[in-house]
Amino acid sequence: MRALILVMVGFLFACSPAAPPPTTNSSAPNAEAMQAAALAMQAKVAALPGPFNGADYEAGRRAFGQCRSCHAIEPDAPSRGTGPNLFGIVGRKIGSEADFEYSQAAASANFDWDGAKLDQWLTSPQAFLPGNRMSFVGVRNEKQRRDLIAYLMVASAETEE
Ligand code: HEC
Repeated sequence: MRALILVMVGFLFACSPAAPPPTTNSSAPNAEAMQAAALAMQAKVAALPGPFNGADYEAGRRAFGQCRSCHAIEPDAPSRGTGPNLFGIVGRKIGSEADFEYSQAAASANFDWDGAKLDQWLTSPQAFLPGNRMSFVGVRNEKQRRDLIAYLMVASAETEE
């Protein structure tokens, strides 16, 4: 399985153009360009540490639909009143977005978010951190949590160039 993934990643990297695409024909996004972008994101997922390297980026992106009503994830977006911005969440200290008013429970907790912590949080926010203010029951499906966390790891680390 690992060998297969490595081969796939190698293949994806070998196929991605080294130079930016030519400026001609760059107006409307076409299906081919969108597919190439999706493949590039999936290659980043494959380079994550296990078990997240086995995740499905596209499925994770869709699963994030459950979170969007409360959370932005774009780098420049302000936190919504409903939830803190999640850009850069992996590696960030819990409760540390300056423009969001956290619960006492989140503000006084002291750890950095990583894959394992996110997995516990998303399984059941209330069981993981009693007294927090995220009104969300949790994601019961293990595969969906893995896809979602891999999406957070990749999407929330994307920088604008
Ligand atoms: C109903 C609104 C709502 C939904 C839906 C929601 N969240 Fe949250 N989330 C919050 C709030 C509010 C907080 C802050 C909790 C606190 O202060 O106790 C939070 C906190 C978080 C944190 C910790 C942020 C930090 O800065 O430490 C993560 C990670 C997170 N949410 C991920 C998710 C993901 C992933 C989903 C979708 C599966 C999701 N949330 C769905 C409202 C929501």
